[in-house]
Amino acid sequence: MNLFDTLNRPLRDLRISVTDRCNFRCVYCMPKEVFGPDYQFLQRDKVLTFEEITRLARIFVPFGVKKIRLTGGEPLVRKDFPELVAMLSEIPNLDLTMTTNGSLLPRFADQLKRSGLKRVTVSLDSLDNEIFKSMNDVDFPVEKVIEGMDAAKAAGLEPIKVNMVVKRGVNEKSILPMARFFREKGYILRFIEYMDVGHTNGWRMKEVVSAKEIVDIINAEMPLEPIDPNYPGEVAKRWRYKDGNGEIGLVASVTQAFCRDCNRARLSAEGQLYTCLFAVKGHDFRDMLRSGASDEEIAHKIENIWGKRADRYSEIRSENTIPLPKVEMSHIGG
Ligand code: GTP
Ligand code: 5AD
Ligand code: SF4
Ligand code: SF4
Repeated sequence: MNLFDTLNRPLRDLRISVTDRCNFRCVYCMPKEVFGPDYQFLQRDKVLTFEEITRLARIFVPFGVKKIRLTGGEPLVRKDFPELVAMLSEIPNLDLTMTTNGSLLPRFADQLKRSGLKRVTVSLDSLDNEIFKSMNDVDFPVEKVIEGMDAAKAAGLEPIKVNMVVKRGVNEKSILPMARFFREKGYILRFIEYMDVGHTNGWRMKEVVSAKEIVDIINAEMPLEPIDPNYPGEVAKRWRYKDGNGEIGLVASVTQAFCRDCNRARLSAEGQLYTCLFAVKGHDFRDMLRSGASDEEIAHKIENIWGKRADRYSEIRSENTIPLPKVEMSHIGG
């Protein structure tokens, strides 16, 4: 049965964060000043078990979910993560995928493929080590991330997509080198406008490089043309190189909001359901799971929440909404 919210949007995409921890400290996501040695991450008993996650996923899917994306923090830092993939892969007809920083892919790619993961999206913000290290803030080198992508490709986790967050004054010089490099490699590069997610990254509008600017920069050297989405509500707008050799994507959530088609629900590691990336509050499912609620009761709660949903943060972003105490990206994934 399909569920529709108050704006007639179906539920299609369930994004599950499996941990709030990460081995990177990207300046736009987990700045060290906040996520330092004293930061209190979730205690282990507060985090949903693999059985709890799988049970919830099985209750969600009949409502029309077509894709489950596993996120974090960094999903691969969760102990025994491939076991969760194996459990979820038993649910039929799902696009089962993951967003990762790539650092642990050389170790896990084969195992993830064997466990039933279909494909991966890897974050990388520059090919220049000085710039990339200044963004991940843990001295992690570019080559190792590319090694991770290549391990994913060798394992058959395709198509490989690459996410690049563009921040003005930091990595806009990396746009062209990244475009050239990944076109050559055959990986789909997506440029993401820097967003005001969470409340710790000190976001300012002037630090956003718009999708239009990015397309103009690339188009001047390698002509582009827009192409149709792969499916309704696809986040990234697709452009292909006119010479037929490859495509890119633009996630323009700041300058061209796409809330109208938003079909995504997000489950945090401790079992809170968020109906928007910019939500201030989630809906708890952990208590229900741990207090003997039936599948029907849980399904009813999901129906209720989605039925009342009216989120469209990116469309109404303003002076007043920017300082709201929104949930951190590392808490609910991208
Ligand atoms: P495909 O499954 O390959 O189509 O990718 P996807 O676009 O669903 O996945 P991904 O998680 O890689 O999304 C790309 C980036 O877009 C995310 O990391 C976020 O930064 C951003 N993003 C995704 N969904 C939303 C959304 O609902 N709202 C906003 N504002 N940004 C989003
Ligand atoms: N703005 C845009 N994208 C972000 N991501 C994390 N924080 C932000 C932000 N403030 C992206 C990461 C990754 C995905 C999970 O979300 O780069 O690709
Ligand atoms: Fe970690 Fe991804 Fe956040 Fe970077 S963007 S700190 S890799 S969760
Ligand atoms: Fe969906 Fe919220 Fe993003 Fe709009 S801002 S597209 S409603 S997650």
